[in-house]
Amino acid sequence: MMSEKILLKEIPNYHEIEVYKKHGGYQIFKKAVKKNPDEIIEEVKKSGLRGRGGACFPTGMKWSFMPKGSSTPKYLCINGDESEPGSFKDRQIFEFNPHQLIEGILISAYAIGAQTCYIYIRGEYGKWIKLMQKALDNAYADGLVGEKMKKTFDCEFYTEIYIHKGAGAYVCGEESALMNSIEGKRGYPRVKPPFPPQYGLWGYPTTINNVETITNIPAIIDKGGGWYAGIGESKHPGTLLFGISGHVNKPGVYELPTGTLLSDIIYKYAGGVLGDKKIKAIIPGGSSVPPIRGEEIEGLKMDAESLKEVGSAIGTGGIIVMDEDADLVKILARITKFYHHESCGQCTPCREGTGWMLKTLNRILDGKGTSHDLDLLIDVANNIEGHTICALGDAAAWPVKFTIERFRDEFEAKVSKSIQLPVMNKVHSMRLTSISIDNVVIE
Ligand SMILES: Cc1cc2nc3c(=O)[nH]c(=O)nc-3n(C[C@H](O)[C@H](O)[C@H](O)COP(=O)(O)O)c2cc1C
Ligand code: SF4
Repeated sequence: MMSEKILLKEIPNYHEIEVYKKHGGYQIFKKAVKKNPDEIIEEVKKSGLRGRGGACFPTGMKWSFMPKGSSTPKYLCINGDESEPGSFKDRQIFEFNPHQLIEGILISAYAIGAQTCYIYIRGEYGKWIKLMQKALDNAYADGLVGEKMKKTFDCEFYTEIYIHKGAGAYVCGEESALMNSIEGKRGYPRVKPPFPPQYGLWGYPTTINNVETITNIPAIIDKGGGWYAGIGESKHPGTLLFGISGHVNKPGVYELPTGTLLSDIIYKYAGGVLGDKKIKAIIPGGSSVPPIRGEEIEGLKMDAESLKEVGSAIGTGGIIVMDEDADLVKILARITKFYHHESCGQCTPCREGTGWMLKTLNRILDGKGTSHDLDLLIDVANNIEGHTICALGDAAAWPVKFTIERFRDEFEAKVSKSIQLPVMNKVHSMRLTSISIDNVVIE
């Protein structure tokens, strides 16, 4: 399997503009701008590149939704909100390869005709905002961005790039909330349709792409879509930045081709499990994707299609490893607390449901849960899933539903075998009473 790095090259000081330029940096945009924008979009389609922000949407197809030849403003937003627990890969690009991201933005903006681009970075990433701003300032000073680029690259096209700092809300990573946030409004997701290419920033056509997605673009334009399509798995080609954390010896970000075995990532790259323990569970793509059991990792490839086959998703490639002693009830309660806290509150199922799930999980942790609570949790999760404005609702529901379904034994061990039945009391109000399982026949 190839081990070439596209995103995190092992070149000392590659983040510095002079080093980047010495290795051919900003020459690819020069090549791109000589082509027709449609040719660039076709090349990206040919590459098979799929978005790295979680949903794996084909990038070339997304770009082709932008209206052509319109005289109204068009925008490109680069999503660097990176707030999904378990995901910490985009910050590696901000730190170690900011100019490839900037060159990727220039090519992408040219392809879709965007004269203004925003890089949206989560507010907590203070260090990375500064590093990215420094790289952008250097690119501006060199005439590589903004009006001066017309002279530098001998072209009619130019684009401005701004860094927009988020204020610390996970939901602002959702593309329509991100646009509201840039507009200075509350970070509420918008009802779709209309979709961003029709009605985006300030109502104008907009494309939103993840940081890692766009950092792939210069390599695709330089070496060709066919070259990129040949890396890793054909239905989800390229390399991925796998961020691995949890109970492993060497947590970190590893750039590997799609289709790399999960067992290789854990044992070969991340140094194996702490204390050589067995693995109980793995979250393969950030906290919102369904967990898989430790026994399932044998022969499992890390790409969108292979993970779909085992009932999970590649998400953002953020792998969380939990060893045999991990307390899944506690972990699930912690994950649910996060989604409850981050719910923007617009939709009742998400606003209330995340709270109900958290209360129920806490009840189980307090030793007051019953088997009925497990079915109640799955029921609440099912009532959130698919019934909300944005996918934060699903992100909150899936961990609950699938962790309980796939690790029910872990949860059963923590709940009482008594059931709670409502009984009428003398003043006709409802009261709960516990009935010992010894007196009730339950299948
Ligand atoms: C609640 C929520 C949070 C999200 N957070 C991020 C994020 O931090 N970064 C990101 O790139 N995409 C995030 N997304 C996905 C974006 O909405 C969007 O699909 C993505 O930025 C598109 O880029 P891509 O096509 O390059 O993957 C989030 C989605 C939801 C529903
Ligand atoms: S699903 Fe949750 S976060 Fe998304 S819009 Fe509805 S309430 Fe807000």
